[in-house]
Amino acid sequence: MKNNPIYVALDFPSWNETEQFLMEHDLRGVPVKVGMELFYREGPRVIEKLKVHDHPIFLDLKLHDIPTTVMRAMRNLANLGVDIVNVHALGGSGMIQAAKEGLNSSDHPTKLIAVTILTSLEQETLNNELFIPGSVQDNAVHFAGFAKDNGADGVVCSVHEATAIKEACGSDFLTVTPGIRLDNSEHHDQKRVATPKFAKENGSDIVVIGRSITKAENPRKAYDTALKECSN
Ligand code: C5P
Repeated sequence: MKNNPIYVALDFPSWNETEQFLMEHDLRGVPVKVGMELFYREGPRVIEKLKVHDHPIFLDLKLHDIPTTVMRAMRNLANLGVDIVNVHALGGSGMIQAAKEGLNSSDHPTKLIAVTILTSLEQETLNNELFIPGSVQDNAVHFAGFAKDNGADGVVCSVHEATAIKEACGSDFLTVTPGIRLDNSEHHDQKRVATPKFAKENGSDIVVIGRSITKAENPRKAYDTALKECSN
């Protein structure tokens, strides 16, 4: 995790489109993130198919339920042998502990990451719609602290909160940052965005990039550009 790896978000409707994308753009074997869209369509077999080509895998299902349900679900996910899974920190300390317990049922070292505040949310939505007071950053740091205290290995956060989270939780606590845009590319539904270079300079351990790569004219070139920015 030291080289700021980039996980490409495979937000495709099915395995056919996913496989075509990976093959056509010479992205076989790169770290990938499988989210709800693809997993709900293809199920666990999509993980098996990716593992054939040795892709490091972040399974981004953002579990959020009562602790027993999450523990049992995590037991099943643990058997898939992926590298990273996640839960919403908003599920609370008991749920995070239960997630960790479920993962510990397998020998595979799967990292547990807690989502702090979605990068699609802004301060106004947090305060006025969800009635969560305080700044996005203070909330993200708070969620990170209790996620760490309850067994999480790191958090998903915006790049803008990564430094403060590292200061509060220590340099070994992983920061996974979506909301990344290559210079000049569209923001889409993301609000708190940054470039890969900014991510590297601001405490991000793992960068997640979707549409800036998958919708690029030349996805392989976009991936290489982002990787270079993260490694300089
Ligand atoms: O296309 P884009 O780069 O915005 O994709 C970001 C990916 O990261 C999406 O798959 C999204 O579900 C995921 N994600 C996120 N914010 C979080 C957690 C995951 O954008 N807090």
